[in-house]
Amino acid sequence: MTPSQKRALKVSSVSLCLCSILVLFACAKLSAWFTAVPLPKRVFPCDGDPSLSTFGFCNMSWGVEARVANLVKRLTLQEKVGFLGNHAGSVDRLGIPKYQWWSEALHGVSYIGGGTSFSSLVPGATSFPQVILTAASFNATLFETIGKVVSTEAREMHNVGLAGLTFWSPNVNIFRDPRWGRGQETPGEDPLLSSKYASGYVRGLQQSDDGNADRLKVAACCKHYTAYDIEDWKGVDRYHINTVVTQQDLEDTFQPPFKSCILDGNVACVMCSYNQVNGKPTCADPDFLAGIIRGKWKLNGYIASDCDSVYEFYNSQNYTKTLEEAAAKAILAGLDLNCGYVLVQHTEAAVRGGLLDESAIDKAISNNFATLMRLGFFDGDPRKQLYGKLGPDHVCTPSNQELAREAARQGIVLLKNNAGSLPLSSTTIKSLAVIGPNANVTTTMIGNYEGIPCKYVTPLQGLAAVVSTTYVAGCADKVAASADATVLVMGANQSIERENLDRVNLKLPGQQSLLVSEVANASKGPVILVIMSGGGMDVSFAKDNDKITSILWVGYPGEASGAAMADVIFGDHNLSGRLPMTWYPQSYADTVPMTNMTMRPDPAMGYPGRTYRFYTGPTLYSFEDGLSYSSFNHSLVQAPQVVSVPLEEGHVCRSSACESLEATGETCSNLTFDVHLNVKNVGNFSGSHTVFLFSSPPTVHRAPQKQLLGFEKVFLASQSEAQVQFKVDVCKDLSVVDELGHRKVALGMYVLHVGDLKHALSVQI
Ligand SMILES: *[C@@H]1O[C@H](CO)[C@@H](O)[C@H](O)[C@H]1NC(C)=O
Ligand SMILES: *[C@@H]1O[C@H](CO)[C@@H](O)[C@H](O)[C@H]1NC(C)=O
Ligand SMILES: *[C@@H]1O[C@H](CO)[C@@H](O)[C@H](O)[C@H]1NC(C)=O
Ligand SMILES: *[C@@H]1O[C@H](CO)[C@@H](O)[C@H](O)[C@H]1NC(C)=O
Ligand SMILES: *[C@@H]1O[C@H](CO)[C@@H](O)[C@H](O)[C@H]1NC(C)=O
Ligand SMILES: *[C@@H]1O[C@H](CO)[C@@H](O)[C@H](O)[C@H]1NC(C)=O
Ligand SMILES: *[C@@H]1O[C@H](CO)[C@@H](O)[C@H](O)[C@H]1NC(C)=O
Ligand SMILES: *[C@@H]1O[C@H](CO)[C@@H](O)[C@H](O)[C@H]1NC(C)=O
Ligand SMILES: *[C@@H]1O[C@H](CO)[C@@H](O)[C@H](O)[C@H]1NC(C)=O
Ligand SMILES: *[C@@H]1O[C@H](CO)[C@@H](O)[C@H](O)[C@H]1NC(C)=O
Ligand SMILES: *[C@@H]1O[C@H](CO)[C@@H](O)[C@H](O)[C@H]1NC(C)=O
Repeated sequence: MTPSQKRALKVSSVSLCLCSILVLFACAKLSAWFTAVPLPKRVFPCDGDPSLSTFGFCNMSWGVEARVANLVKRLTLQEKVGFLGNHAGSVDRLGIPKYQWWSEALHGVSYIGGGTSFSSLVPGATSFPQVILTAASFNATLFETIGKVVSTEAREMHNVGLAGLTFWSPNVNIFRDPRWGRGQETPGEDPLLSSKYASGYVRGLQQSDDGNADRLKVAACCKHYTAYDIEDWKGVDRYHINTVVTQQDLEDTFQPPFKSCILDGNVACVMCSYNQVNGKPTCADPDFLAGIIRGKWKLNGYIASDCDSVYEFYNSQNYTKTLEEAAAKAILAGLDLNCGYVLVQHTEAAVRGGLLDESAIDKAISNNFATLMRLGFFDGDPRKQLYGKLGPDHVCTPSNQELAREAARQGIVLLKNNAGSLPLSSTTIKSLAVIGPNANVTTTMIGNYEGIPCKYVTPLQGLAAVVSTTYVAGCADKVAASADATVLVMGANQSIERENLDRVNLKLPGQQSLLVSEVANASKGPVILVIMSGGGMDVSFAKDNDKITSILWVGYPGEASGAAMADVIFGDHNLSGRLPMTWYPQSYADTVPMTNMTMRPDPAMGYPGRTYRFYTGPTLYSFEDGLSYSSFNHSLVQAPQVVSVPLEEGHVCRSSACESLEATGETCSNLTFDVHLNVKNVGNFSGSHTVFLFSSPPTVHRAPQKQLLGFEKVFLASQSEAQVQFKVDVCKDLSVVDELGHRKVALGMYVLHVGDLKHALSVQI
């Protein structure tokens, strides 16, 4: 998606109406005027005109499939191809208006794409933290709750003609390399966390308020399928790269979030990426699209291309000689909707040239129409439907904005905390120095794929609401010397890491490290380093410097950043966020080529592997790291020592030694066990705590050194305890993937880990 397209719809917010009562009054009058003005005349399919109601596709007593078939058979070939692009065509004689498929809602309704925009009627929408920080909350309920609020605001905006119904979010690619510019958009590096985030957020967006599983509130889209996580690294860009991926890495790292989107989240769309995987563009690969997405996982919905993906595999990859061939290859592979123009402009010629049959187009547009049917697009005026009552007063409600603040609080990660540093006491700290380039930023806090937020609370504004502050963006020794405590808000922004730009440097940008060290030297009180960034930073200088008493990572915490930061810094909320990705040292970026997709280490080649599951080198901070103001103790209540896998007579492994069994079929039906733990808050602060259950499988099939089986977040008042239970599915969760990409139950000794607790488990026949 080109930056110019993205910016095109950005309109300035009404933040002008701030200070004076006079202006506020004018604003109030203005909004009253806007609500009184009749909406522009809009055309809704199957609405009003009695001549339309006789069309079968308008008949709401029919099933989706029958309605879609009725519509498709009424269209000419030329009309049909108009429905293969994101700027879908209109057919006046059937009362069908144009439709823009491209809207985005990564962490709030966004203006990117063209299907959605803000106006004086709806000047902003709730802007939640960038996804990487929400993932750090490790709270599956929160993922779904945010999705639900976003879809409510989206529906409201649809009612007033400002938003589409099809949102191309979430981004569920694995954050494989710390340099990735879009890592910020993802739930991190772990396949299980990404899967839970993906299915949770998708359910929140899609689930219909009337409980009808076939209806969609809005349609989500899981992207970018698959093995996509390079923007532009040292001149190697996403439009040209062929990612070389083993079947093993595909199955146990890159594919699981997409599988979960479909099987657990029932997502209505999957988007194929720009890159090639093992020599074929994903949008032209019948095995990946028709085979896996539609065949194996049975997507109920449509497959979309990333924007201009089809054009790029022709233009940048020379994968086809002509655009007609590109269109035919994409459709035959299973693509239904092209963000871009290639399919709309070249499919008709491809049919006439004999490159594909019209029936292939029928199939594609049927998937698109079925999705629109499920959204109520062909049921007339949305204001007379299920969500029709939602008006502009349902956007940016106090409770929605409170959820944005709550999400940021739940995600923020405390990485270092010397005794006596955090939380600051609002009674003893009388003056606070607030320093650094990100200390009073607005748009930086929101991250990319943004909307216009309801309002901004900058870090400075949040802290200043609690205590008297002195603010300096840059050099600041004197300020720090006289304050009771110092907060330095440093880190990155979209000029450092973004779509189309990967990092090469993992250190804080420019002179930031020097500034932090100088200020720390001059400060008399606690020095709190706050890192605002998507990806991890090599801050070894700060980790090792005793004068820097605390380090917080806040991701891009959204519209309520400053309020949430004040909540955690002053201890009104006790931190519970954990890192969803490994923080590597700069040496990693200096020695490991970003373009090498291999997950597993190769010591002979000096290749250290990737993510906590495989990486063998030194880390700054690890996946799951994060401190609390309290302490929590775990003890094991119940876990099996042996799990027996039943095998039928005559199975080869009954007579000979096997290292693993196929994790499918009879062997695996209903093979689960429970792990019960007791968790106690042994500290003086109430707070939430995430319990992580990991397993270290036997060392067969180059299995991960450690993998997450489950996580559960609990709230515990000081000195209280609770039981946490995990149901472990041996074949789904405990299994590993072999070298050929087949899921296997490894036989032998496993070690289950919860914090420092270790428990041995033997899996045998
Ligand atoms: C809708 O379909 C039903 C069942 O086929 C039919 O009885 C009814 O007349 C149709 N409605 C209209 C308005 O055509
Ligand atoms: C594609 O073809 C163009 C023109 O023939 C050539 O310049 C370019 O290097 C080719 N690109 C690739 C990726 O093969
Ligand atoms: C902080 O940023 C806000 C929003 O841009 C601005 O209104 C305010 O003047 C800034 N404060 C300082 C002290 O620069
Ligand atoms: C983004 O970060 C760069 C590097 O630190 C800095 O030069 C630039 O001013 C920042 N931009 C904004 C808008 O804060
Ligand atoms: C901080 O103080 C130490 C000890 O006085 C000194 O060695 C160091 O150079 C100072 N660092 C900076 C960045 O001023
Ligand atoms: C990636 O690194 C591994 C381990 O060193 C090596 O075997 C493999 O050939 C590399 N792959 C690519 C595509 O460079
Ligand atoms: C918590 O666990 C640690 C280590 O197992 C133990 O030393 C400590 O006594 C426990 N504290 C409480 C309050 O149970
Ligand atoms: C699975 O096993 C549990 C307990 O062993 C049992 O209650 C349940 O009915 C079984 N489910 C199926 C589908 O066999
Ligand atoms: C908790 O509070 C008690 C009583 O005020 C105090 O003695 C103890 O040191 C505190 N514990 C910690 C870990 O701060
Ligand atoms: C965090 O702990 C403090 C001190 O015990 C308490 O005042 C505050 O309510 C706690 N916050 C939460 C969310 O429990
Ligand atoms: C998880 O998030 C939900 C939704 O915001 C919240 O109500 C709940 O308290 C959170 N759970 C924990 C254990 O913090």
